[in-house]
Amino acid sequence: MALYSEKVMDHFRHPRNVGVLEDANGIGEVGNPVCGDIMKIYLKIENDVIEDVKFETFGCGSAIASSSMATELIKGKPLAEALTLTNKAVTEALDGLPAHKLHCSVLAEEAIKKAVQNYYDNNGIEYDRSQFPAEEDCAHCHLK
Ligand code: FES
Repeated sequence: MALYSEKVMDHFRHPRNVGVLEDANGIGEVGNPVCGDIMKIYLKIENDVIEDVKFETFGCGSAIASSSMATELIKGKPLAEALTLTNKAVTEALDGLPAHKLHCSVLAEEAIKKAVQNYYDNNGIEYDRSQFPAEEDCAHCHLK
């Protein structure tokens, strides 16, 4: 069996929603200290809905495919729904990732959460901090 699914290869070769969103009102950037890869998510949020999303990922193919799939999964969705997106859901939508590449999909989940948090902070919106990963306790720090 091929190491990577057709979907992973497709999103890696033809990533959706790549680039910078000039009028973003929520931006989240995360890095994996182990591999050094960086992912940045831009959100344009209106009336609690993700109207548009773009990403820039400096990283491996799995991180690029995960970012691409994650943006597709949250585009046009209410914020509350986007916040429930897990790396597991991203991985499943990609028809799986090799075990040693699962941490790449964690970056996508965390970057989206950070971008939503940034939007809340910028707009003085109260939120439950326990919904968001603490800086010093990111899941990817435990995944080598
Ligand atoms: Fe670093 Fe994939 S190897 S995110």
